[in-house]
Amino acid sequence: MADLDRMSVTAEAIAQMAKTPDPRMREVMAAAIRHLHDFAREVDLKPDEWLAGIAFLTAVGQACTPYRQEFILLSDVLGLSRLVNVMHDAEGREAAGTETSLLGPFFREKAPEFAPGESIAVHSTDGEQMVLFGTVTDADGRPVPDAEIDIWQTDAHGQYDLQANDPEVMDLRGRYRTDAAGRYHMRTVKPIGYSIPMDGPVGKFVRQQDRHGMRPAHIHVLVQAPGYRELVTALYLGDDPNIDSDTVFGVSDSLVVTPSMGLPGAPRSDLPAVRYDFRLSRLAAGETGGRVGADPSQMMPAAQ
Ligand code: BEZ
Ligand code: FE
Repeated sequence: MADLDRMSVTAEAIAQMAKTPDPRMREVMAAAIRHLHDFAREVDLKPDEWLAGIAFLTAVGQACTPYRQEFILLSDVLGLSRLVNVMHDAEGREAAGTETSLLGPFFREKAPEFAPGESIAVHSTDGEQMVLFGTVTDADGRPVPDAEIDIWQTDAHGQYDLQANDPEVMDLRGRYRTDAAGRYHMRTVKPIGYSIPMDGPVGKFVRQQDRHGMRPAHIHVLVQAPGYRELVTALYLGDDPNIDSDTVFGVSDSLVVTPSMGLPGAPRSDLPAVRYDFRLSRLAAGETGGRVGADPSQMMPAAQ
């Protein structure tokens, strides 16, 4: 074997992986090696910096539990989750489909089911009540009946159920279904902006960069219906002071809302309401879907 120098080690590492049977894995890993080695050469990576990077990634892994996904949080603060979302959207979302946003690390499968008009604020009821209503349609405006809409959010103190209470207890999250005309009607309390979890390695990293770590107030939304691309998005409250500086880059103009009284068609005249009409893109032939995120409990290695 020839002596490997600062350039030829890259080609040799890629050559050793050239027999990877899965062509996509081969392509992704070759590009990863190229960029990783280019990065090390560009910054002239020193041994102690290399070790600090390894220690950081080790700490990120150790902070993961069935209730916390520190690696997704890292991807989020690096802007990688937003980037993957934007690329995925550009490929499969029909022009009129609702824009997507981050799933985030607090999504949980199998949230409780609610009837139209019921409130997801079962245990943490502090805060101003509000209503969310509208329709789910296809990209041409045709109603999608029986679509499942999953929503989750912080309480009025800026905490998710996983952070505020016994993490076994689900609160401020729930699933609703659209009626025959594609309409939905939900009730909740107004979420407030909150800090991403800052007590772990990612929080330390964000502080080292002198970033505030805040997300503007929002309600997460996941809409599913057979034959349509799963929609993972969120509605952001326009009056939040951090609406233009989200630490995880989730906000888009089309997702900013303001609860108000007296909206035409609002199912409750006594509460502020947001009307939002979600539009689903059709699933393309052969498309397998996939989310930029997961319930943290599903990311744990299987028991040995
Ligand atoms: C969230 O919106 O739940 C979230 C997203 C990314 C990082 C932290 C929290
Ligand atoms: Fe959130």
